[in-house]
Amino acid sequence: MNFGGISALDNVSFEVLPAQVFGLLGPNGAGKTTLFNVIAGAIVPNAGRTLLNGEDVTAWSPNRLCRAGIARTFQITQPFQALTVEENVMVPLCGKGFSLSQMRAQVGEYIEGVGLGHKRFALASELSTGQRKRLELARALATRPKVVLLDEVTGGVDMASIGGLLDLVEKLPGMGVAVVIVEHNMSVIRRLADSLLFLNRGKVLARGKPDEVLGHKDVVELYLGAANA
Ligand SMILES: Nc1ncnc2c1ncn2[C@@H]1O[C@H](COP(=O)(O)OP(=O)(O)OP(=O)(O)O)[C@@H](O)[C@H]1O
Ligand SMILES: [Mg+2]
Repeated sequence: MNFGGISALDNVSFEVLPAQVFGLLGPNGAGKTTLFNVIAGAIVPNAGRTLLNGEDVTAWSPNRLCRAGIARTFQITQPFQALTVEENVMVPLCGKGFSLSQMRAQVGEYIEGVGLGHKRFALASELSTGQRKRLELARALATRPKVVLLDEVTGGVDMASIGGLLDLVEKLPGMGVAVVIVEHNMSVIRRLADSLLFLNRGKVLARGKPDEVLGHKDVVELYLGAANA
């Protein structure tokens, strides 16, 4: 994927299995969000392919990809500000033949699951950054995805709420949802991910099990070295 002269993604490939939590790491500007944008259809790559259960879905529209089972959360949240939490989570269910009460019943478990039960009837514009992140997750899950792409979903979430959020993410593989998670918090990555890809400047620097990748010489030098210093 090129932006002008910048090669934002170069020869990056990975496979996520059903019921897997796959971690995507790398410093700022590594290409993590760009990769999500390509997979979710927000930008069309000038090379490369996305396969979903073997089917080539490259350059499908975001709506079509969502219907096919690819959901995402945004690093910078984009809720419908004038709608309530409940209405925001109901949006993906509209037009699918459900009655209002059926939609309400369906979204309840996701709203509770992300710990926003007490904010169900609050406007999205009244939420804190962390609450908006949790709303993003509930909205993505309400589409009943096969794969969910989580872009720094714990960013800005208060410590008291992070535990519940991670419990929910941890349950997703058991519900048949594959998770790709971009996350800067290494303890979160170690707890959740079973396989990692580490990007730097659009290229793969390391891949493998968390211990292998987080112990990789170049990764330690580039990423953890600064944090550990
Ligand atoms: N729409 C765009 N137009 C031009 N350049 C872009 C665009 N989107 C991203 N880039 C560039 O592509 C590179 C990768 O950016 P990206 O946002 O994917 O990084 P990231 O790994 O998600 O970083 P962060 O950890 O800061 O979120 C950066 O050099 C960025 O400036
Ligand atoms: Mg990003």
